[in-house]
Amino acid sequence: MKRILIALALAFGPMNAQPQPTNLIPAPVEYSVRPGSVSLDKLAGQGEKVRISPKALLRRLEGRKLADWQLKSAYWLELGKKGVKIVAADEEGVFYARQTLKMMASVDSTLTCCTILDWPRFPYRGVMLDESRHFQGKSFVMKQLEMMALLKMNRFHFHLVDNPGWRVQIDAYPRLTKLTAWRPQAFFWDWEKNEIGGPFVEEGTPGAYGGYYTKQDIADILSFADERHIEVIPEIEMPGHNYETRYAFPELACSLPGGGKDPWELCPGKESTFEFLEKVLLEIFDMFPSQYIHIGGDEARKNNWKLCPDCQARMKAEGLESVEGLQSYMIKRMERFAHEHGKRIIGWDEILQGGLAPDATVMSWHGIEAGLQAVREGHDVIFTPTHYYYLDYHQDPAQFRPVGRHVPLEKVYSFEPITEGVSEADAHHVLGVQGNLWTEHVQDAWHAEMMLYPRVFAIAETGWSQTERKDWHDFERRALALSNVARKWGYTVYPPLSQQ
Ligand code: ACM
Ligand code: ZN
Repeated sequence: MKRILIALALAFGPMNAQPQPTNLIPAPVEYSVRPGSVSLDKLAGQGEKVRISPKALLRRLEGRKLADWQLKSAYWLELGKKGVKIVAADEEGVFYARQTLKMMASVDSTLTCCTILDWPRFPYRGVMLDESRHFQGKSFVMKQLEMMALLKMNRFHFHLVDNPGWRVQIDAYPRLTKLTAWRPQAFFWDWEKNEIGGPFVEEGTPGAYGGYYTKQDIADILSFADERHIEVIPEIEMPGHNYETRYAFPELACSLPGGGKDPWELCPGKESTFEFLEKVLLEIFDMFPSQYIHIGGDEARKNNWKLCPDCQARMKAEGLESVEGLQSYMIKRMERFAHEHGKRIIGWDEILQGGLAPDATVMSWHGIEAGLQAVREGHDVIFTPTHYYYLDYHQDPAQFRPVGRHVPLEKVYSFEPITEGVSEADAHHVLGVQGNLWTEHVQDAWHAEMMLYPRVFAIAETGWSQTERKDWHDFERRALALSNVARKWGYTVYPPLSQQ
């Protein structure tokens, strides 16, 4: 412990000499002040006592009922003049107790003695990063994972493939990255004209913009994430958002001149499409131990399918009456494949069209209605509604490259995942929340962070803290304190509301 606290004091340096009631984000379930305060210097000389014992934690919970997954993350922490005591049922709880200490030590140099009893409200507390439109790379991702861990977030949704580039090594199909991970123009909107993808250039072309993750990069990211109790969920898009796949393998498009009018869709009529996707997924399954695979499923226009002889033949053979049914056939078939390999699928809310795959988890993005429908049908849901959690949308119309709706920090903070449409019996189907950073207009690392922070602080609090612990004004105070610290660590943070 000595070493840990000394390292904390040196690495994260005090920002505020005045002890605060608590500067923690997310707000803990129970926080009680004890007599006195202790300086970081003094604390560094004290010990840390850690006890991993479900029984000992249950005693401190005094009859409060937690789900098993909550117990795993829960912790009791006592910060006194004589040092720190931690009780948890699992290593994960100890990790979160230490994140709490780390945050306290980062914001204040003198810590108010306190006791904290804490556990998460939702099991899924996520951030999605779109690495296809603009590629940031491994060290950027690790930096964001570090901040996620501090905020007790535990799911990183890695949007690795999309129209503007395939960004993960697949040994069975090296053409994917060789041909589509690079382009002449850095800025996405200079490359994409009229919603049709622009030209790619081959790997190795001098001056080309782009990149992709090798298997070693992915392994490095996964071990970094694992140490921080973050699960990395890869997304492999299908059947839409596949311009880049068709660029590398034109034969996977519909059997129409030029592959059909819409340039984004794969042909679900052809067996070769499934052979391709399954081979890709096998390598993805080998790379990522996550229980989940995200298979996309959004925004397929399906016009080509109405004309394609292979799609029409498939629909006839399978008794499908609509192209929505054809999409559903494809997603269900991919789900069966995922199950055979011990995985479960997540898809964007369009996977409801034509009938949901039996065990699919829905990522509700158009709003909350699709999510509510999925919950009523007995499915798990993650809420990522555009009006609240699309982090490409601007925080302030005057900001750099504003796009989309106005989604300031207070709006993000105001989202409540359990609405009237969710019965108490169904509430466990709401797995949690996620902020999505799409990067059409976000080229640089500093810009990406400016879009993420401080809004991710708000998503973290909604994902972890009990509703009654949420308080916008108190949160804003804490967000200001954490923003100052994060800037000191080298993050770009947009000013919280009162500073704009
Ligand atoms: C999406 O924003 N197309 C999921
Ligand atoms: Zn087709």
